[in-house]
Amino acid sequence: MSRVLNFGSLNVDYTYRVDHMTREGETQSSEGMEIFLGGKGFNQSAALAKAGAEVYHAGMIGDDGDGFLPVCKEYGIRTDYIKKIEGKGGHTIIQIDKNAQNSILLFGGSNRKVDREFVDEVLDHFEKGDLLLLQNEISSLHYIIDKAYEKGMVIILNPSPFDHRLDSCDMSKVTYFILNEIEGCQFSGKEDPDEMIHAILEKYPKAKIVLTLGGDGAMYADASGARFHQPVFPVKAVDTTAAGDTFTGYFIAGILENMPIPDILRMSAKASSITVTRKGASPSIPSQEEVMASL
Ligand code: RIB
Repeated sequence: MSRVLNFGSLNVDYTYRVDHMTREGETQSSEGMEIFLGGKGFNQSAALAKAGAEVYHAGMIGDDGDGFLPVCKEYGIRTDYIKKIEGKGGHTIIQIDKNAQNSILLFGGSNRKVDREFVDEVLDHFEKGDLLLLQNEISSLHYIIDKAYEKGMVIILNPSPFDHRLDSCDMSKVTYFILNEIEGCQFSGKEDPDEMIHAILEKYPKAKIVLTLGGDGAMYADASGARFHQPVFPVKAVDTTAAGDTFTGYFIAGILENMPIPDILRMSAKASSITVTRKGASPSIPSQEEVMASL
């Protein structure tokens, strides 16, 4: 069976509950503060592991990142390629407002120290057919894509956050794009989901696209003409952090299991609907048993 390597960020999330997102020039007292282990990369590894997949996480932690290793063990994430370096690790300041929406300020820290030497060291252990999952919170992304493509790995990109750092990446080497509607708009220049998909497939005809649409559910499309839509499972949200990461991890776990796409979408939507009912990033992600039991 193929293995999954997730080369991604590990962030300590400092999460503050607020009445509203703090405005320019405003000082606002928070109503509570908690610290969670997160990072788009780490959350997606947590979702993969909790969904039952074998996942190797590669990334860099700093002086403040020791907490990740025991939690990786607890979730079943392979830690062989998590390297500790001197200096500050990645962290975020997250505001959660009374509607459970978030705003995230990201400091890259050690995530931005991923260099070519480390990439080569990690990729040496993987081969043709293995899956590589990436987000946009680490450095050397374009180099990882080029090297993994040369090896024949299957590249899955969650282009989040969508920023100028993606400009140097050769997107034609990516097999799966997993993105939300804002990233879809930034990527394609279109606002309508069908037009986004059309524009992306026109440019990258071999790609498979998973588009999450918030309250409008999620869509899958590829050049074979396959199109599937999955509505959301309505819930009362308390914190939407890691909802997209849960969807991504569960989606890839379903691909590894060779499940039909509509079933994968359903499982992933159910998993992320559970995530938003709980506080925090990685701890809010449900196990596969829990997801299946509530489907
Ligand atoms: O997707 C949620 C994640 O984004 C948070 O855990 C935070 O660390 C940021 O990377």
